Amino acid sequence: METYIFKNPDETALNFAKFLARETANKPNFSIALSGGSTPKLLFDILAADFKETINWPNIRFFWGDERCVPPDHSESNYGVANERLFKQIAWKLAVHRIEGENDPEVEARNYSKLIISKLNLVNDLPEFDLVILGLGEDGHTASIFPNQMSLLESDKICEVATHPQSGQKRITLTGKVINNAETVAFLVTGKSKAERVHEITKQTERAQSYPAAHIRPKGDLLWYMDEAAAANL
Ligand code: 6PG
Repeated sequence: METYIFKNPDETALNFAKFLARETANKPNFSIALSGGSTPKLLFDILAADFKETINWPNIRFFWGDERCVPPDHSESNYGVANERLFKQIAWKLAVHRIEGENDPEVEARNYSKLIISKLNLVNDLPEFDLVILGLGEDGHTASIFPNQMSLLESDKICEVATHPQSGQKRITLTGKVINNAETVAFLVTGKSKAERVHEITKQTERAQSYPAAHIRPKGDLLWYMDEAAAANL
C-alpha cells in the first residue's frame, strides 16, 4: 500500500490527474472504473481544465465501479457527473461504457457484467481492470458495497444490485472480487470527515474489519491519494 498526502483537495486532485496521465501515456485500451459521489468532481474539473492536451484520451476506456439506479441525466448519476464535468469538455471521441441506471437493476447488473467480460481480459477467471478508482464513505463503504451488505465482497458475480442503507436507493456495484482483481486500486479521499475511517482502514484495526473498504486488498497496487485533512489521524 502506498499513501500520497497533499495539502488540500485541489492539490490531491491535481496530483491524481498527473498519476492518470503517467499511467495511461503509453497503454492503449487502458481500462478505468470511475468512482462516484462528490470527491471525483474536482478531479474531473481539473482534468477538463488542465489535462485536455496532456492525457492520451484515445488510450482510455471508461467504466464505473458503481452507479445509482437513476437516469443518466439525473443529478445523482455518476455517469451524468462525469459526462457534464469531463467528457463533454473534451473534444475527443471517448470510449465510455456507462452502467444504464435507468434499466431494471437486476437486468442491468447482468448486462453490465456481460459487457465487462466482453471488454476486459480475464485473470484468475475474473475481468481485470487496469485501474479502479474508489471513494470512501464515512461508514466505511466503497463503491456501493455497504457495511450491511458485506456479502458483496465475496460474491462470484461481476456486478450486483446494492441498496443504500439510508435512502433505499438501488445501486449497481462491482463486487469485491472484481475490484481486488484490478492491476491497481486507488482510493481518492479528502476531508476531515473521513480521517478516522482512513486511519482504521489503512492500519487494518479490528474495528475496520466491519468496513467494506478495509477488504479492498488488490492483487496489484493499492494507492491512497488523500489531503492532509483525510490523513490527519495517520
Ligand atoms: C457513490 C460512490 C461512493 C462514494 C463514497 C464517497 O456512488 O456514491 O461510488 O462509494 O465514492 O460514498 O463519496 P463522496 O466522495 O461524496 O464523499
